[in-house]
Amino acid sequence: MKQDLIARYGGAAPRYTSYPTAPHFRDDIGAADYREALSRLPAEDPVSLYLHVPYCDTLCWFCGCHTKITRRYRPVGAYVDTLIREMVLIAEAAPQGLRMSQMHWGGGSPTLLRDEDILRLARAAIALFRPVAGFEFAVEIDPRDTGIDRIAALARAGLTRASIGVQDFDPLVQRAINRMQSFAETAGVVGNLRECGVQNLNLDLMYGLPYQTKARTLATVQRALDLDPDRIALFGYAHVPWMKPHQRLIPEDALPGPGERLEAFNAASELLVQAGYLKIGIDHFAKPTDSMARAHAAGKLRRNFQGYTTDTANSLIGAGASAVSRLPDLYLQNAVPVHRYSDTVRQGELPIAKGVSLSNDDRLRSAIIERIMCDFSVDLSALCERQGAVLSDIADALDRLERMASDGILTIEESTINIQPPGIPFTRQVAACFDTYFRNASEKHSQTT
Ligand SMILES: C[S@@+](CC[C@H](N)C(=O)[O-])C[C@H]1O[C@@H](n2cnc3c(N)ncnc32)[C@H](O)[C@@H]1O
Ligand code: SF4
Repeated sequence: MKQDLIARYGGAAPRYTSYPTAPHFRDDIGAADYREALSRLPAEDPVSLYLHVPYCDTLCWFCGCHTKITRRYRPVGAYVDTLIREMVLIAEAAPQGLRMSQMHWGGGSPTLLRDEDILRLARAAIALFRPVAGFEFAVEIDPRDTGIDRIAALARAGLTRASIGVQDFDPLVQRAINRMQSFAETAGVVGNLRECGVQNLNLDLMYGLPYQTKARTLATVQRALDLDPDRIALFGYAHVPWMKPHQRLIPEDALPGPGERLEAFNAASELLVQAGYLKIGIDHFAKPTDSMARAHAAGKLRRNFQGYTTDTANSLIGAGASAVSRLPDLYLQNAVPVHRYSDTVRQGELPIAKGVSLSNDDRLRSAIIERIMCDFSVDLSALCERQGAVLSDIADALDRLERMASDGILTIEESTINIQPPGIPFTRQVAACFDTYFRNASEKHSQTT
């Protein structure tokens, strides 16, 4: 039966970090729309800030992020100047005194920034968007370029949470993905972060990488558990060489098939749950005391461009090349090529390349898809009512859902959908039932299992 379900539902589907998804952003949305939407933000509503650093010093062959490799620091230092200028442009367009509840630095590798640049970037952000009480500041950390001084600089800048890139501890897997990183290196960073007072730690692991058998995946998870993180993200490797040509360097014949991937993920999940972690959404695990576990229990988990989040802000402002922003009715994406992004900012213009304005129908479907991805369950009538819609507005999804119900993927009681344990690996496919753009397009995504 499992093989049957994989054959029927294991196809490609978006990861739904937004709806509509990024391939449906359009280039007739630009800086003027962004300025106007920023000016309409309620001044008393805190926002969340995301800063993207699109540089790394070596390329991991699996990487699906927006990054470029640099051996020189000069462009990175200059990029920090540009990021600060962009934040000034945003603050000028927004109501005075706009505050932030969370700040997240991602990439690429923000830990490539020198200590002095970390401090001036954090200080600039904090001066422009004053933090509210309980402010959270998270940074993605590559242990291979993060010594104790860098961690001390991040701690001085106010870091409260660190997300540490690991992927897999096995040297055979590491060689096949061009990412050699010893356990001692990772353990050292974990120890240094804790010593500097950064207590909230997440480890990024992956499954579905070349040579990753179930046994190797379990061994990596066990070593990750030895480091006692508060959260673990276990991402399914998205192999999309048509979008990321460097992934052709990955030996495809060493990639596990859909059945093996699922088996490795399920075994890893079981180990994590036995160790006391709660499974959250499609790829996260958190200790019950962690804020993500508490948000999940309260039905307040959210999903945005960084994946699952506890962020409750209504608006996410993204700065940096390729960064995505979500304002109440508008998604926007900055120019992806760093030179285009930088030239636009230096000319004093917001560097928007494309976006999409949400219709009432988009807003409804976005809310449904978010609940499916976060809770594996949604009461369609209640949600329609909250959004001023009726069930017949989403009638197009119902046929597909019925078929999934008869295959044991989910149950439909009254108007509530509950994804069942055998259906959880196909959550993205359930969400796709509500995605009118996906069904009408021929775009290619990664496999769901
Ligand atoms: C920006 S990186 C994290 C910070 C730092 N650059 C590092 O790698 O340590 C974000 C995370 O995305 C995940 N990731 C990157 N490419 C991926 C892919 N193709 N499929 C699934 N996850 C991926 C990895 O787990 C990685 O740690
Ligand atoms: S996984 Fe991280 S370090 Fe590796 S290339 Fe991607 S962004 Fe850079």
